[in-house]
Amino acid sequence: MEKKLIELRNISKSFDGETVLRGIDLDIHDSEFVTLLGPSGCGKTTTLRIIGGFEAPDEGDVIFGGTRINDVPPYKRRVNTVFQRYALFPHLNVFDNIAFGLKIKRPKLKKSEITEKVTDMLALVNLKGFEKRHVSTLSGGQQQRVAIARALVNQPEVLLLDEPLGALDLKLRKDMQKELKSIQKRTGITFIYVTHDQEEALTMSDTVVVMADGKIQQIGTPTDVYNEPQNAFVADFIGESNILDGVMIADRSVRFAGHTFECLDGGFAENEPVDVVIRPEDVDVVPVERGMLSGKITSVIFKGDYYEIIIDVKGFKWMLETSDFVAEGSVIGLEIVPDAIHVMKKSEYSGRFGDYSTYSEEAEHLSDIVSDEEAAAEASDSPDTDESL
Ligand SMILES: Nc1ncnc2c1ncn2[C@@H]1O[C@H](COP(=O)(O)OP(=O)(O)O)[C@@H](O)[C@H]1O
Ligand SMILES: [Mg+2]
Repeated sequence: MEKKLIELRNISKSFDGETVLRGIDLDIHDSEFVTLLGPSGCGKTTTLRIIGGFEAPDEGDVIFGGTRINDVPPYKRRVNTVFQRYALFPHLNVFDNIAFGLKIKRPKLKKSEITEKVTDMLALVNLKGFEKRHVSTLSGGQQQRVAIARALVNQPEVLLLDEPLGALDLKLRKDMQKELKSIQKRTGITFIYVTHDQEEALTMSDTVVVMADGKIQQIGTPTDVYNEPQNAFVADFIGESNILDGVMIADRSVRFAGHTFECLDGGFAENEPVDVVIRPEDVDVVPVERGMLSGKITSVIFKGDYYEIIIDVKGFKWMLETSDFVAEGSVIGLEIVPDAIHVMKKSEYSGRFGDYSTYSEEAEHLSDIVSDEEAAAEASDSPDTDESL
C-alpha cells in the first residue's frame, strides 16, 4: 500500500446540537480510490467538506502528509472538489472554463503553458476538439467532464467528488464510472468519492468506507465488504441479504431456522446470539427430501440470467437466486454449505431488517427525492422545460 496521505483522527461534528459525525477515524493513501458509501444523511458530504476545509470539525484532527491542517483554509489545501451540481461558467467556452483556474494563478503562467495544460486535460477527459464549444451546447455527461478537467488542471494531490454522477441517467452514469476510474488510474491522483449507490462504490473503488448514522461501519476492499460484512447494516446495505437470528453452538457450528449448520466461523462464546447472513446466490435449491430447510415459493421473478425467488420457510421470507426455473406455489428444499454462511456479532442494527432486505433500494429511492424548490430550480435551467408549467 502507498504511503498515508490523509488521516482523519477521531472527528466529530454537530449542527444545531445534532451530532452528525461521531469518532471518524480514517486513513487515505496516496493514489487510492476511496469511496464513502452510505444512505442519505449519514454524514458523507460533511466528512468530505471537512477534508476540503469548508467545514471545521468540533473535535479531532485532519492530517495531510503528516501535518495537522485543521486551520488551513480550503484554497491552501492541495485538494480540489467536483460537486454534484457543478457550476460551469455558462458564458465561457470549454477552453476558458478549464483554463479559468490557471489564468488567475500568481505568478502568471505563460499563455503557451496554459494552452498545453488545457489541451492535455481535454485529451484526458475525451473532449479533444471541444475547445471552442459553449458549455450550454454540451450534454450533461460532457459538462461533467469539463467540470472534472477544470478541477484536475490545477494538479491537486487529492480530488474530492461528491455524487458527481448523480444528475446523469443510468447508461451515462455507467460509462462515466469507467472513465473516472481510468482517469484516476492514469493520473495517480487520490480520489475521495461520495455516493449512496452501492454498485457504483463496488465497481470503482480500491477501498469502500461504509457509513451510517455518522459512524464508519466498515472499511475494506469491495470484496471484503461484500463477502465479510461486519454487521447487519453493512450486510443489508451492500447487495441483497437474508439476515437471520442465530446462536453459535460452538466453533464451526451455528443454529438458525430450526437447524444446526456447519460453518467456517469461530471465536464466539458458547451459545452466543449472532446474526447470520446468507446471500441469495449462495443457496442451492434441491428436492425437498434433500433440503436442510424447506419452504413454499411465493414469488418468481425472471431477471435475465437468473430467477429471483421468494421462499417462505416457517414464516421467514428468504430471497434466493437460481438459474433453474421453479414454479410459484411449489415446495422446495434449501441446501446451505458452510462457505455460504457468514456469522456476525450482534449490533445496534440487529433485527432491523426483518426478512430478506430491500433496504438498499428504499434508501436509493429516498435519496432520489429532491425538494420541490430544488426540482423547480433545476427545471428552469433545462432547455426542455414544458412551457405550460
Ligand atoms: N450546514 C448544515 N447545517 C445544519 N445541518 C447540516 C448541515 N450540513 C449537514 N447537515 C445535516 O447533517 C446530516 C448529515 O448530512 P450530510 O453530511 O450532508 O449527509 P450525506 O452527504 O451522507 O447525505 C444531515 O442530517 C444534514 O441535514
Ligand atoms: Mg451528501
